[in-house]
Amino acid sequence: MSLSPHVSVLLPEVIEALAPRDGGLYLDGTFGAGGYSAAILDAAACRVIGVDRDPGAVARGRALETARGGRFTMIEGRFGDMGELLHVRGVNRVDGVALDIGVSSMQLDEAGRGFSFAKDGPLDMRMEQAGPSAADLVNAADEADLADIIYRYGEERLSRRVARAIVAARKDKKFEGTAELAALVRRVVPKHADGIDPATRTFQALRIAVNDELGELERGLAAAERLLAPGGRLAVVTFHSLEDRVVKEFFKGRSGEAARPSRHLPQAALGPAASFALLNRRAIRAGDDETRRNPRARSAKLRAASRTEAAPWPAGMKGGVS
Ligand SMILES: C[S@@+](CC[C@H](N)C(=O)[O-])C[C@H]1O[C@@H](n2cnc3c(N)ncnc32)[C@H](O)[C@@H]1O
Repeated sequence: MSLSPHVSVLLPEVIEALAPRDGGLYLDGTFGAGGYSAAILDAAACRVIGVDRDPGAVARGRALETARGGRFTMIEGRFGDMGELLHVRGVNRVDGVALDIGVSSMQLDEAGRGFSFAKDGPLDMRMEQAGPSAADLVNAADEADLADIIYRYGEERLSRRVARAIVAARKDKKFEGTAELAALVRRVVPKHADGIDPATRTFQALRIAVNDELGELERGLAAAERLLAPGGRLAVVTFHSLEDRVVKEFFKGRSGEAARPSRHLPQAALGPAASFALLNRRAIRAGDDETRRNPRARSAKLRAASRTEAAPWPAGMKGGVS
């Protein structure tokens, strides 16, 4: 099914942050190839629930269920729905949640999934293999909406130029494959001195939009806050600044580190009590050894925090005083 197996990123660091203990229950919200799940199961006499929205990952999870007997359960779904997914199975508390955001090597390697511009394949990019694809988006969205997606999720300065070129080209022929879209982006966006393929940012933007990745991340963090027992750990690995910003702001707000107007105000005026205590002030990065072995780890950042006794914050509240 896959050409190269997925190598887990920051694995020892994630396990140290989760600190699995005997009798505990842990949620691996992005099962992928199961690297985190297997390591948590090895670290303590605990149970793990794996969640993934990709049917291929779920099939790998079924194999781990068989191998680990009753200690591991695989669930197909989105981690943004983790509360409901667990609740219907009678689980309302967990001792740790791990999220390893982004795509797996299996998804990138399979040309048929359409995540990669390095190989030609259908312009798909759907982790769930259901719902609107990248081709649907590219062939139907308004020029202004396309430009907005490419600017916001790809941080592409030339987003308007890319959107204009897409809309002009699709009048003649709808986009079907990754190679034709990548070639068009390369025609209108000059190559940077950093050597990064000009198509990278547009492909990242489409992938994030097709899978609502930032929305899922926000929902997943809030769901983990509701699900974690006091003392439970939340460990999140991200791969680019847009995702890391969401995690950093969430932890900053929930840990009481966000700017407050005055420390002399009564607690009630300062907003809810901190629901997380940071385990590290700064994000943890991969060491030289790991980045040499696995270049994907170069951009990875781990942020982790421990759940306090405080009630979860009201939905949608970001940090500081509202
Ligand atoms: C980077 S891989 C995880 C690798 C895993 N930690 C390991 O060690 O093998 C990310 C996985 O998360 C899944 N995923 C991404 N967003 C998701 C979401 N919102 N809900 C559930 N799974 C998601 C992807 O399908 C992919 O399999």
